[in-house]
Parts: sequence; C-alpha cells; structure tokens
Amino acid sequence: MQIFLDIATEAALAAGAVLQAYFGHLEDAINEKGRPGDLVTVADKASEKVILEVLRRHFPHHSILAEESGKLGDQQSEYLWAIDPLDGTTNYAHQYPFFTVSIGLLVNGVPQVGVIYDPFHNELFRAAQGLGATRNRNAIAVSETSDLSKSLLVTGFGYDRRETSDNNYAEFCHLTHLTQGVRRSGSASLDLAYVACGRVDGYWERGLAPWDIAAGIILLQEAGGKVTAYDRSPLKIESGRILATNSRIHDSLSHELIAGVGNSIKN
Ligand code: IPD
Ligand code: CA
Ligand code: CA
Repeated sequence: MQIFLDIATEAALAAGAVLQAYFGHLEDAINEKGRPGDLVTVADKASEKVILEVLRRHFPHHSILAEESGKLGDQQSEYLWAIDPLDGTTNYAHQYPFFTVSIGLLVNGVPQVGVIYDPFHNELFRAAQGLGATRNRNAIAVSETSDLSKSLLVTGFGYDRRETSDNNYAEFCHLTHLTQGVRRSGSASLDLAYVACGRVDGYWERGLAPWDIAAGIILLQEAGGKVTAYDRSPLKIESGRILATNSRIHDSLSHELIAGVGNSIKN
C-alpha cells in the first residue's frame, strides 16, 4: 500500500500547486456543467490533468474514475482510482478557501488508500489500509464525543437539491436542534477529513459520487471512525449516501436520520 500512498501524495501535491496558482485568478473561466450551481473551472481541468499524468505514468494498467474525464483505463482492473481534482469548486470559484484535491484507491471496490490535500491551509491528510491516518505526517484520531447533544456535525446539499424533496433540508433542521451545531463546508472530502482528525464528530450527506468520498472513507476508518449507510448497513459507495462519525455517536445519529426527522420540531 505504501507505494500507492506515495504516488497518490505526489499527484495530490502537484495538483494542489495548480489549484493554488489559479486561486483568485479565474476571471471568467467558470462554467456550469448542467445543473444550476454545478460549476467547472479551468482549475478543475488543469488539476485533473496533472493527477492523471502522475497516476498513468506509475500505474498504466489501473482503472480510473475521474470527475471531469469519467472512466479511463482498463475497467477490468481490480485497482480503481477515484479522483476529485477540486472538491469544493463553488467555494473555490468564490475564493472561499475550503477546497481540496481528493484521490482514493479502491481495490476490488473497497477504499484502501486515500489522500486529501487542502493546499490553501497546507494540510495533507493521508491513510492506507493498516497504516493509520495522518495530517501533515502526524497521526490523527477521531473525537471522543459520545453524546449527540454535545456534538458538532457537518453535512452538505447536492446540486440536485432544487429537483427533489430528498434534499437533506429536513435532516439539517432536525439535527441543528439536537446538537451544538451543523456546519456546511462545501467540500465533502474536507468534511470527512475533519471528522477523521476530531474537529467535528459526525458527517452525513446524500447525492455524492465515489470521487467525493473514496479517500475520506479510508482516512476516517484508519482514524478510528465508522462509515456506513444511514441505517448502519454496510456502505455502498455508489449509493452516494454516507453516514460517517467518530463511531461513538454513530448509532444515535443514525437513529435520528432514519426515525427522528419525521418527528422533528417544526418552527
Ligand atoms: C461537491 C462538494 C460539496 C457537496 C457536493 C459535491 P464539487 O463537490 O463536495 O460539499 O455537498 O455534493 O458535489 O462539485 O465541489 O467537486
Ligand atoms: Ca466533489
Ligand atoms: Ca470536483
């Protein structure tokens, strides 16, 4: 796993430098991809190009799923790289400095290696199966909060939020009442990294793609956290729906997402 971790790190650092270089200099190079608000910039594309170049040079036979390029390489390979070259594009386009490069490696569909790099704050989160989780090379662990009422959570809202009532608004209101707060960072990979290093106690979201969460899943697991579907069944990454916590609030947060929302305080 170490070689995969090292090469993913090389790619993430190079891509992070690209994002830093474009930050604040996009001018009018921002476009909508389809849904309102779903943006793509020259920086997304330039970052992905750098990542693909590094990964293909080292692992020409691996499969790739990259947000801006789609599926590439040998789709029969047991190794699949899930790449988000800029997670937090809306933030980035507004010069709100919460965004990352996120690179995950799935082996036979299971996340095994993850690198999440926040170039603005120079924070490099890394993990691999059995090797632990680190931030800037120092070991990290999840928080010890066990009471949901004392927890700080984070969540997000997909680009399809205007088209569906399954848009997480009710869940957001319900959990805001029950906890010390619910943040919305605008970067799913950063949300997972912040649970992994104990800054927040739990995260949930729907409507995600594998490239948003592949790296964060292994990072959180290696930091002692728990990742499942909302109902605590094993996570199916393609479902796009994730519950990720410090493990201590997992059952209570799951319960509130599944059973509590309908009985939420309405005001
Ligand atoms: C988005 C961010 C955001 C989440 C969205 C994602 P993008 O990714 O991770 O936090 O709420 O669902 O699509 O478009 O910035 O790469
Ligand atoms: Ca993303
Ligand atoms: Ca992206």
